Amino acid sequence: MQSSSQKFRTIEWNDGVVILLDQTKLPAKENYLQISDVDGLVRAIKRLSVRGAPAIGVAGAYGVALAARQFPPAKKPKEFAAAIEQIRTARPTAVNLEKRVTETMAAINRSSDSPADAALRAAHAIREEELQSSTEMGERGAYAVLDLCGGGPITAMTICNTGGLATVERGTALAVIQTLHELGHLAEAIPLETRPLLQGGRLTTWELQRMGANYRLIVDSAGPFLLSRGAADVVLIGADRIAANGDTANKIGSYSLALGAREAGVPFIVVAPESTVDFETATGAEIKIEDRGPLEVTSIQGHEIATAGSTAINPAFDVTPARLITAIVTEARVVRLDRGETLDPVDSLRREEIE
Ligand code: MRU
Repeated sequence: MQSSSQKFRTIEWNDGVVILLDQTKLPAKENYLQISDVDGLVRAIKRLSVRGAPAIGVAGAYGVALAARQFPPAKKPKEFAAAIEQIRTARPTAVNLEKRVTETMAAINRSSDSPADAALRAAHAIREEELQSSTEMGERGAYAVLDLCGGGPITAMTICNTGGLATVERGTALAVIQTLHELGHLAEAIPLETRPLLQGGRLTTWELQRMGANYRLIVDSAGPFLLSRGAADVVLIGADRIAANGDTANKIGSYSLALGAREAGVPFIVVAPESTVDFETATGAEIKIEDRGPLEVTSIQGHEIATAGSTAINPAFDVTPARLITAIVTEARVVRLDRGETLDPVDSLRREEIE
């Protein structure tokens, strides 16, 4: 297998500082932010300097470590609790953020070490878990795609950014595309630009180019039409929260692609780590969808495009019902929803390192 390695660092901890590649500046500039307090981290999550469900989960865990240093819980319990709540609720749709904050808090409560040390150890373990999951998802997903499509070469349509920028390395849906490319089975990737914030146009093209994969960018509304003309063999998306029944919240536009894929008879595959599955949410109807306000729609990268005084509706995510999903691929399994298989809790991998 030919390897195409990532040379950027999405999120790291260095001596009390969280280092983030500022994704709002890509692809024009590769700037790293150095964040040493909770307010700074929460701002970075809210403005999408760090984004993607697994990556904000890791950021949240490091945020707890920052909070424990800034507001030692034994001395400043109220400030510490408020900081944790601020981190946990910075973005509401991706379950990874609240889950990883809760796991890191549990590690603090169990440990006899200082809260700052216990939190940091848990955050490192969470980062490592996401890193390993990406490699495993990529391989499992690539072979599942080859199986479903009867072999390569594969043309894969995808939305948003689900690569190393959205995780720690390699990603979820984009890890599958990267693995297909490394195996020599990728004909082409077709990323959607992903208005309003252009994660596909700005970030996925940046990652695809670095990995040396063939790709052509399309506008979001071209996706379902191109599927109807046989332009792709498979649609691969990530997830922000997968409900217990398989309903999947992901970037706005995913649902339209799923409808288009169903109409065209193209497999529609969700690729996500087990950390994105939320058994406490029964169906997609219960998932809170982040509303990011009108400005991102009435302007593009700071340039007003709508008539002055216009307002807008801006849901950041949508929910694809399980019945439109062919399979869910995680680091641990392939669940064929199209064959009536269901998502049941698995004994989580590598739990003991976090606990
Ligand atoms: O608003 P974003 O950019 O954080 O949205 C990200 C997505 O929708 C991704 O598809 C999802 O988090 C999975 S990333 C591996």
